Amino acid sequence: MSDLGFNKIAFCVLGTGLALIGINEASHSLFHTTKHEGAAYAVDVPTETVAEEAVEGPVDYGLLLAAADIAKGEEQHKKCVQCHNFDPGGAILQGPPLYGVLDRDIASVAGFKYSAGEGSLSEHEGAWTYENLNLFLERPKGFASATIMNFAGINSRVTGLEDRMNLIAYLRTLGGESIPLPAPLPAAPADDAAPVDGAAPPVDGATPAPADGTAPAPGAAPATPAPAPH
Ligand code: HEC
Repeated sequence: MSDLGFNKIAFCVLGTGLALIGINEASHSLFHTTKHEGAAYAVDVPTETVAEEAVEGPVDYGLLLAAADIAKGEEQHKKCVQCHNFDPGGAILQGPPLYGVLDRDIASVAGFKYSAGEGSLSEHEGAWTYENLNLFLERPKGFASATIMNFAGINSRVTGLEDRMNLIAYLRTLGGESIPLPAPLPAAPADDAAPVDGAAPPVDGATPAPADGTAPAPGAAPATPAPAPH
């Protein structure tokens, strides 16, 4: 074979090789783009989560009081001593004695002249529950517009709630130890734990929940919330 003949063949082989590589590359990219475009099994991951929503709701007295600092509450009670006695059998000062005030009926100390008439403490129903104490101590005139307790309240925007919880936890140590702390509010409703419609099926061989929804989700909150304390 002449050199020219060999070159021709070599060129053909090389050209065919290059062409094949080109086709392969082209089909490869074609294959890849078509395969990944709009894949049928894409899982929609929700971008918003419930946990990120601002939690605005009822005060969780059980949780807050269980975490309260009694020593700091004792510090808070110094704001009250000019008008209140905190000892057992303590005398009436400008205000009524406060030993055992937790769960005591509102305006019930014999011999103390409470505010009277509309918006007064005398007109107020009920007892000094955790909640009533919290509301009265936050803003006395908000709780009873005609109260004669001349005290603005413990209502710092930053520490007010914590200060009041500490103080109320301290008041509880003054003859109220047997009064149970409120139960913490139930956790998030069970619905939040349920799988979202269209979510991927269980992958690890877990048995799906029955369609009638009788089986509670693991870790689900009790259906009925604990009764509110009174
Ligand atoms: C300037 C005096 C003064 C100060 C300070 C004061 N109180 Fe009073 N407090 C009163 C008076 C007066 C009453 C009666 C209010 C009425 O009859 O409306 C009262 C009533 C109360 C009652 C209702 C008691 C009952 O028998 O129904 C509670 C509870 C109470 N105070 C808690 C506190 C606490 C806790 C503090 C401190 C953070 C405090 N007070 C600070 C004067 C004061």
